[in-house]
Amino acid sequence: MSENLQEVVAKILKYSEQFVLELKSANTKAQVLDLKAKYVGKDGLVTVIMKGLKSATVEEKREIGKKSNECKDQIEQMSKNALEELEHQEINRTLEENWIDISFRDSIRSKAACTSGYHPVTMIQREVEDIFSSMGFDILDGPYLEDDYHNFEALNIPKDHPARDMQDTFWFKDMTHLLRTHTSTIQVRGMEKYTPPFKFVGPGKVFRCERTDASHEFVFHQIEGMMVDKDISVANLIYFLKILLSEIFKKDVEVRLRPGFFPFVEPGFEMDIKCLICGGKGCAVCKYGGWVELVPCGLVHPNVLKYGKIDTSIYKGFAFGLGLDRLVMMKYAIDDIRLIHAGDLRFISQFASI
Ligand code: PHE
Repeated sequence: MSENLQEVVAKILKYSEQFVLELKSANTKAQVLDLKAKYVGKDGLVTVIMKGLKSATVEEKREIGKKSNECKDQIEQMSKNALEELEHQEINRTLEENWIDISFRDSIRSKAACTSGYHPVTMIQREVEDIFSSMGFDILDGPYLEDDYHNFEALNIPKDHPARDMQDTFWFKDMTHLLRTHTSTIQVRGMEKYTPPFKFVGPGKVFRCERTDASHEFVFHQIEGMMVDKDISVANLIYFLKILLSEIFKKDVEVRLRPGFFPFVEPGFEMDIKCLICGGKGCAVCKYGGWVELVPCGLVHPNVLKYGKIDTSIYKGFAFGLGLDRLVMMKYAIDDIRLIHAGDLRFISQFASI
């Protein structure tokens, strides 16, 4: 070793004191880290001394090694404390700069409580439920996650039936479970629950794996209706649907019935209403045709009744699946279904006091 033992020990003590002094003026975490590196980093002043011990005697090694380790430990501990202190200061500063007036927040919340309201789809769903329950219909629920049987099979859509392609399905990996593509699953569940005569409606979300546009969403809402009794005919179906639409729109609306194909009804129809957005002149919602498909419906196919263990020689039924989002669009003249689910408060809050 070129320097003698005493000189090296003095140097270590000097570094130790020097570090303490310099640390006092380190005001940021970066400065503390730089300082620490200057003394005990890879090529730091203390580290270099330790590296130089290779050529020292055993006694020198013991003495200098001890001192430099103490010095290193002290520097590391002091750096750690300084970093923690700076971290605290930073948190306190942030808290001070971004303080929240809790009483102010509460006042906003109570104001919101006064002006908040239901989502328009919830409102229309309840309205439709009320209209039907006043006519003696029960209200049923069903799960979103369904099996092949309730969504297809029991609705007269066997495997490999081309009608399965009518509804793009979100399948689970096992390919037997799915997110229900329509509330017609509730028809199947209703028949499992009741023996005829019965009538019920079943509202809820449905899911379709398809591209969105002004009149399509991949999550939307339907309300299914089903009535099974003796002597049910298309006249009963039209009667209930006309009552529903005139109650909802508070006026007589123009409707038309067209043939429609659904494997679970025979005959099947599409009930259209004259577009209330453009009055029939043509717009994006009615695809410039003046009419909007609102209620697919029909008389329940005998195969469906048979799956439901209903005696088709005695009973008949009608069923419909009303699109609730479309109904909202018609009622409030909204020309893009995507607005309904975007969660934009500027849109949603317009319904707050309705
Ligand atoms: N489930 C059909 C659909 O979502 C609608 C429907 C319901 C048609 C009941 C007829 C009877 O497209």
